[in-house]
Amino acid sequence: MSTNRLLELFEQNPGVYVSGEMISQELGVSRTAVWKQIKKLESMGYVFDASRRLGYKLITVPDTLSVPELLSQLKSKVFGRSIEWHEVVDSTQNLAQKLAEEGAPEGTLVIAEQQNNGRGRMGRGWVSPQGKGIWMSMVLRPSVPIHFAPQLTLLTAVALCRSLRRMTSLPIGIKWPNDLLIEGKKISGILLESTAEDERLRYVIAGIGISVNLEQSDYPEEMLEKVTSLRIANHGEGFDRTAVITEFLHEWEQLYFLYLDKGFAPIITLWEALSVSLHQPARLITPQGIIDGVPIGLDASGALTVRKEDGSTVVVFSAEMGEPVR
Ligand code: BTN
Repeated sequence: MSTNRLLELFEQNPGVYVSGEMISQELGVSRTAVWKQIKKLESMGYVFDASRRLGYKLITVPDTLSVPELLSQLKSKVFGRSIEWHEVVDSTQNLAQKLAEEGAPEGTLVIAEQQNNGRGRMGRGWVSPQGKGIWMSMVLRPSVPIHFAPQLTLLTAVALCRSLRRMTSLPIGIKWPNDLLIEGKKISGILLESTAEDERLRYVIAGIGISVNLEQSDYPEEMLEKVTSLRIANHGEGFDRTAVITEFLHEWEQLYFLYLDKGFAPIITLWEALSVSLHQPARLITPQGIIDGVPIGLDASGALTVRKEDGSTVVVFSAEMGEPVR
């Protein structure tokens, strides 16, 4: 018997005692086996009230993420069906990459409570304190050419934005290409690292960082102008990380399979509707030089179309987007 099935049973009976006899009947195991699994859950931080007469009542679930709880709440069929959880890692990207090299199937997820060397885009770091956020990396194995990888980044941003908006009701938007912002401050980042062979993707490690319950004191002072968390934006009230993960994985999986089936066009429409980067002047710092103009949408490949002052348009594949310089 797995603790997973036992937790499911408590979830179906919230706030009430479930008798040892009922559990052993439902799960087809002995009363002793039930007791052992309760002890195991207690060692993981679950708190039960045990009554000789009434049975067990689940009082508290632990503050750390629990794999059995995640699996029991998961709505996705592939994404997150295999989860490797760690207390502390350097970066979940490294562990997921190792698993991918060893043949881990699509949807394998690595989650950590804390990262000591979290990686951001453009060689930056990523603030990942203990138990406050969602720091995770997933193995994807899409059968598409390597130059489609940026589309997956945009798709991931759309899924994250849609699920977080639904869960929090906060005004979250996407800054091109894939930062999630609340009133101009970043709450989440996405880092896709691809490995290819013969021009096709072998696998992609999709790293997601969501600043869920961080407080101002978790950030270095100089970052506070540019970053926030869901909790800070929600006037100090935090969110359940398990629910955030499972909602996101469900949305992400649906969009991913829609994309593999129907292509990128539906994702463009969704991305444009959530973007906070369109139709206002911006300065784009590209590897080829600076472009000043107004971003007007995504082209069919996922590149950003920008209208310049002289009326001509250019497409930008990779850049840092900043405020216009007047
Ligand atoms: C960005 O710069 O916006 C991307 C940040 C990505 C951070 C996540 S946290 C989980 C995964 N592990 C890492 O080291 N980075 C990504």
